[in-house]
Amino acid sequence: MERTMRRIAVLTSGGDAPGMNAAIRAAVRCGIAAGAEMWGVRNGYAGLMAGDMAPLDLRTVGGIINRGGTMLGTSRPPEMYEEPGQRLAVAHLNERDIEGLVVIGGNGSQSGSLALHRLGVSVVGVASTIDNDLAVVDTSIGVDTALNTAVGAVDRLRDTASSHHRAFVVEVMGRHSGYLATMIALASGAEQVLIPEMPTTTQAVLDRIREAYAAGKPHCIIIAAEGSPLPAATLHEEIRHQHAGVYETRLVVLGHVQRGGAPTVFDRLLGTRLGAAAVDALIAGERAILAGLAGGAIRHIPLGDAIQPCIKVDERLYRLGETLAQ
Ligand code: F6P
Repeated sequence: MERTMRRIAVLTSGGDAPGMNAAIRAAVRCGIAAGAEMWGVRNGYAGLMAGDMAPLDLRTVGGIINRGGTMLGTSRPPEMYEEPGQRLAVAHLNERDIEGLVVIGGNGSQSGSLALHRLGVSVVGVASTIDNDLAVVDTSIGVDTALNTAVGAVDRLRDTASSHHRAFVVEVMGRHSGYLATMIALASGAEQVLIPEMPTTTQAVLDRIREAYAAGKPHCIIIAAEGSPLPAATLHEEIRHQHAGVYETRLVVLGHVQRGGAPTVFDRLLGTRLGAAAVDALIAGERAILAGLAGGAIRHIPLGDAIQPCIKVDERLYRLGETLAQ
C-alpha cells in the first residue's frame, strides 16, 4: 500500500546557508507530488513556537532555486533548547494536524529536532550549515558556496597584498570548527591557517611570517577561523607591533559575506537531493534521521549520531597546506 502523510511542515533554522531554498523547493514539490499538503514555518524555531506557519503551494516555491538565504526566514531562539519552548512548538504542530516536520539546519538546529522527536513529533532533518559541523556527513548545504565566496575574496586580497608587499590576516567563519578556514587556506595558497583544532603561539606565527619574508614572498596571507585561539584582531596588532620593517599588515574580517550569495551548482543539487530525500523518508515512515551526504551518497543518519561533537579538519590536509606554503 502506498503511504503518504496528510500534512508536512518545513522550517529552516540557525545560520542561513546558500542552497536552503533549493531544499525547501524540493521538499514542497515532492511532498505535494506524494499527496501531502505542505506548510512553511516562518523564521525557524521562533516561528514554530509562535505558531507562525502557512500552507505552501507549487508556485510559492518558484524562482528560489537560484537564491541565497532562506525564503522562510530563520532564527536561533535559546528557548528552543528548553522544554517549555519545545512543548509550545509541539502544541502548534498538533493544533494544525501537522503529521511530519522537516528541519533544514546545522548542529544546534538538529539537536532541536531530536528534542521534538522525543516529545512525539515525526521529524526528519536536512544537513545544512556552512560550518560543516555535523558528524558523519561529508559536506552540508552551503559549504561549497561559502568556500567559493571566501576563496574569491582571498584571491582579490592576494592581488593587492602582493602589489604592496603586505601581510593580510583574514578572519573567516567557523566559531567551533576550522574546516572552512583549512579548506579556504588550501584552495587559496595561503601561507598560514589558524584554527581551533590546531592551537599555535603568536611566536610561531611571527616566525612563519619572517620565513615568508626571508624566502622572498611578495605577500603573506594568514587565514584565521573565527574560533581560533589566537583571535585575528589580536594577531594583527601583534604583527604590527613586532614586524615593523618587514610586511605592513592589514586585517580583513570576511564575516557574513560568506553566508550570502547565489548557491553554487553543487549546493543547488545537494539542496534539491536532500530536500527530496527528507520528505521521501518521512512518508516512508523514517523518524529522527538526518538526510545527508555521507560517503558520497545520500544517506539517512540517526539524528543522535549527526549531532555528536566531531572534528572535520583532516590533519593530513592541514599539514599539506603547510608544506605547500613554503
Ligand atoms: O552559520 C554558522 C555561522 O556562520 C558560524 O560560523 C558563525 O559563528 C555564526 O554562524 C554567526 O552567526 P550569527 O548569524 O548569529 O552572527
